[in-house]
Amino acid sequence: MVHLIEIENYSWQYLNTPQEALKNINLKIEQGSFVGIIGPNGAGKTTLAYSMDGLIPGQYRGLKHGVVKIRGIEVEEYPRGRLQQMVGMVFSDPEAQFTAMTVEDELVFGMENLGMSLPEIRERLEWVTELTELKHLLLKPPYEISGGQKQRVALAAVLAMTPEVLILDEPTSMLDPVSRKRVFEVLQKLKQSQNTVIVIEHSLENLIPLADRMILLADGEIALDAETGEFFQRLDLLLEKGISPPGAMRFFYELTQKNLYHGRLPLTVDEAAALLRGAA
Ligand SMILES: Nc1ncnc2c1ncn2[C@@H]1O[C@H](COP(=O)(O)OP(=O)(O)OP(=O)(O)O)[C@@H](O)[C@H]1O
Ligand SMILES: [Mg+2]
Repeated sequence: MVHLIEIENYSWQYLNTPQEALKNINLKIEQGSFVGIIGPNGAGKTTLAYSMDGLIPGQYRGLKHGVVKIRGIEVEEYPRGRLQQMVGMVFSDPEAQFTAMTVEDELVFGMENLGMSLPEIRERLEWVTELTELKHLLLKPPYEISGGQKQRVALAAVLAMTPEVLILDEPTSMLDPVSRKRVFEVLQKLKQSQNTVIVIEHSLENLIPLADRMILLADGEIALDAETGEFFQRLDLLLEKGISPPGAMRFFYELTQKNLYHGRLPLTVDEAAALLRGAA
């Protein structure tokens, strides 16, 4: 079976740096999965994202070992631009991506570049503005809208090009809690319609309910890769690597440390509440 993403014995060292940013990564990602990637600063998360859309080794100089394949084809073998169309990337600073004078032009620009027909562009524009709730902002200049709206425009612009996989690198780190929640609501809809989504994110409260699988990167290596429920049972390892878990999970972990609780750690406040009701 050909996986959407297949990474085998992959290492990457940026030019003129003393050590590898990614070391012997082995990872397979199936179509339709929703994967969360976490890890401390400098762990190699962004480097891994760049490696999946060909920015590495395309735009960066360094030493590569091993193989990164998208749909069975090595990233280096794709014609220029083709891979970036298959793998859509959204970053934490959306402004850097904007070039147009209106939100509408920003969304249409990428589709025109791909040579989509006008009816197709109209149809996709309708779909994507509905999904991201941007219709009322189409005629505004991108620099006049709020941070959360900007991030939804960046997301919409990438989605309009129908990527096979969407990679988001800390998409909500510059947003307030309400805007952050709205971005995750869009991701929730994408999950429901079987899109493949990879999210690098610190906001675990929002990520946990969506992720099927979680990966912990630390010092350029995969320290843990598991189904989300199992992943967080290894809280000792996560804490050791500097991950700060959601409050409800932490509370039950502290009870475990004091020998007052011996069951599975709850992933969400709802799960914790159910456990407490059961204990009452
Ligand atoms: N352009 C570059 N040139 C040289 N070294 C780099 C470059 N970009 C990243 N690195 C190094 O590679 C390692 C991994 O960095 P990376 O940005 O992938 O980590 P990260 O997990 O995304 O961190 P953060 O949470 O801060 O975003 C770090 O040691 C970093 O200093
Ligand atoms: Mg990063």
